[in-house]
Amino acid sequence: LLSVRFGRTRRDGEPPLINGWIPFLGKALEFGKNAHGFLAAHKEKHGDVFTVLIAGKYMTFIMNPLLYPYVIKHQKQLDFHEFFDQVAPLTFGFPPVRSGKFPGMGEHVQRSFRLLQGENLNNLTETMMGNLMLVFRQDYLTGESEWRTESVYQLCNSIMFEATFLTLFGKPAHTSRHSGMVTLREDFVKFDTMFPLLIARIPISLLGGTKAIRDKLINYFHPQRMSRWSNTSGFIKERAALFEQYDSMGDVDKAAHHFAILWASVGNTVPATFWAMYYLVTHPEALAVVREEIHGVLQVSGIETDHNRDIAFTREQLDSLLYLESSINESLRLSSASMNIRVAQEDFSLRLEGERSIGVRKGDIISLSPQSMHMDPGIYKNPEIYKFDRYIENGKEKTDFYKDGQKLKYYRMSFGSGSTKCPGRHFAVNEIKQFLSLLLLYFDVEVLEGQEPCTLDPSRAGLGILLPASDVQIRYRLRRS
Ligand code: HEM
Repeated sequence: LLSVRFGRTRRDGEPPLINGWIPFLGKALEFGKNAHGFLAAHKEKHGDVFTVLIAGKYMTFIMNPLLYPYVIKHQKQLDFHEFFDQVAPLTFGFPPVRSGKFPGMGEHVQRSFRLLQGENLNNLTETMMGNLMLVFRQDYLTGESEWRTESVYQLCNSIMFEATFLTLFGKPAHTSRHSGMVTLREDFVKFDTMFPLLIARIPISLLGGTKAIRDKLINYFHPQRMSRWSNTSGFIKERAALFEQYDSMGDVDKAAHHFAILWASVGNTVPATFWAMYYLVTHPEALAVVREEIHGVLQVSGIETDHNRDIAFTREQLDSLLYLESSINESLRLSSASMNIRVAQEDFSLRLEGERSIGVRKGDIISLSPQSMHMDPGIYKNPEIYKFDRYIENGKEKTDFYKDGQKLKYYRMSFGSGSTKCPGRHFAVNEIKQFLSLLLLYFDVEVLEGQEPCTLDPSRAGLGILLPASDVQIRYRLRRS
């Protein structure tokens, strides 16, 4: 009885076990709030691998990045999708994909991810550019050259949300922009605030108006409505066609899947854009280098005086913006708190380096914590400092980072790892590059004085890029040549 109440007993060969430390669901959220501190304290006490009972789940944390490759290569035994399949349906409101009800769908969904990458990215990037220009032009490039004030999150959210939406899902039949975009965005933010609670499996019925908001968001993607949209990306078109093949899938279920993609595509991109912009505007020396690079690479001239000219970047030009890319990666390093989670498919012995191995039981969760790695002073000197060129060495991308004298295979993990790495990562980095390039080409931007530095809001810990705890005010005006 005791072991039921207080958890299981550690077996030989298993990592140190911290039982019942956080037995209740609500406490899981407390863990979320200071995951980094919690893990660091346990590492100090128990070493670089330990198991903790959190909200009824045994989670084994691998705290040494040198051990990550051993976990990541065990794809069969340590599966990502089992976790995703348990949590996503509750969160987004669709039936589980791999439940047997939709034979073959999991594989097809997986295959659709190729449409976000490689050659397919060229089209997406080009469309994104057009949509960014559209929103910038209609909402911000108003021809007046006096200073205007705005807050950074507000700016990033309004532009990136809509431009990403248009790029993936397309535009309405007779106009270039969807009606109700502001409401959609506001509803999305309300839903996103509740997201950590949904992921912690708190029933949506207990979360006040969240169910009604989610229903409204889902309804935006009703197949009848979507069928009237044009310029939809190949990625969304292929998924929509796939769902049509399953009679057992209702219209609302299809819509809920599209809504989940909206979340995946903007839920992290908007805060990532915020941090990328925030750090640049609060570090004028970085901003100057990045702006000069953009001017040099794109060889644009005169656009400051001719705001009617559309700007186009080739993919090669975007790829060659090394300082901009390093600055984005650096802000991702400082703001990402995603956990990499795998579920053990059987009892087995996970081999780590040398002779070392650990016993793992079926159903256990193995978790890597990129945030702990990103903030490890043994890897990144002064990890709490923003250093925009941290990922550049001798004019090239820096890829060698070390821990205890050994070269790391994984040193940046904001987008996950191994086979489940975020399929939208190249698109995401490109769109942030495009947004910042346009912003810096068109505008002078300055932070208003007398504001406290922005801090991370920890409530989304474990789920991706953290939101800022407060917004920050800037002033901007059209640049003159
Ligand atoms: C999965 C991060 C942008 C689509 C993930 C995962 C992470 C992540 C950490 C889980 C990977 C794992 O656990 O191994 C991010 C960040 C982004 C971003 C930080 C922006 C800065 C995007 C965009 C899209 C996208 C723009 C789509 C266009 C997806 C999808 C998955 C995913 C579909 C699920 C993959 C699967 O089921 O295997 N993302 N993402 N993401 N992301 Fe992203």
